[in-house]
Amino acid sequence: MSKISGKKKKNIQTFINKKSKGEKITVLTAYDSFMASLLDRNGIDAILVGDSASNVIHGYNSTIPITMDIMIAHTQAVARGTEKALIIADMPFLSFQPSVETAITNAGRFLKEGFAEAVKIEGGIEMVPTIKKVIECGIPVMGHIGLTPQSIHKFGGPKIQGRKEKSRAYLKESALALQEAGCFSIVLELIEKELSGEITDSLETMATIGIGAGVNCDGQVLVVNDMLGLMDDDFKPKFLRQYASLTPIIEKAIIEYIDDVKNQKFPTDKESYSKEK
Ligand code: KIV
Repeated sequence: MSKISGKKKKNIQTFINKKSKGEKITVLTAYDSFMASLLDRNGIDAILVGDSASNVIHGYNSTIPITMDIMIAHTQAVARGTEKALIIADMPFLSFQPSVETAITNAGRFLKEGFAEAVKIEGGIEMVPTIKKVIECGIPVMGHIGLTPQSIHKFGGPKIQGRKEKSRAYLKESALALQEAGCFSIVLELIEKELSGEITDSLETMATIGIGAGVNCDGQVLVVNDMLGLMDDDFKPKFLRQYASLTPIIEKAIIEYIDDVKNQKFPTDKESYSKEK
């Protein structure tokens, strides 16, 4: 969808270049056109159309229910608002797990119909055969290890990953295998900062993007609604920095509007059309 080509448009090479220069990579989620344009015009490197839309937009309590068609609609909206940032679409639950063919078809839909430029696929070394085939089709892939929300029921909740030796070994081995498969970057979610640093240092051609994984990653990602305080108060994990607190501002505006309408303070003459003007 982007009309920009050449130097200004960010692409997967931006990730590799920034990693090699030690420049941090900035990523935020977006699900609609206006938010995407705000992120884009203020210089974000990449926009992730996360399956977190399931929680923050559609009101589910996990990422599991969201479908391909809904994710495509969000990706199209984001693409319409984005000129420079790389657009990464998140492959939802069961859009890639059943077979390599399913994964290729659905990843391809994100590029053909959604105007994404890359897809994100959750899972470690066990997903390598699928991810390799998707990349062979010309579709850039971002990996995602650590706490992978589509497997929340397997983990039994949002637990820090890599605390036991077996799990540390799995995460390190998975990161190397995903780099070998050709992923341009990988999300590290809910991992101790020492381990994410070790993983980051072990990789040359795949940039690590952390969420709850400390400062040692090549870049960071947050869910935009969470960092703007656009949610109810009960979600406050340690890793989340709220850069704004928009919920009370929005509530105040809604209350004022209701009050003004009830008391005929809105609209005023100035806000009305009349025969005179
Ligand atoms: O869906 C999402 O927003 C994500 C990020 C939290 C990495 O996967």
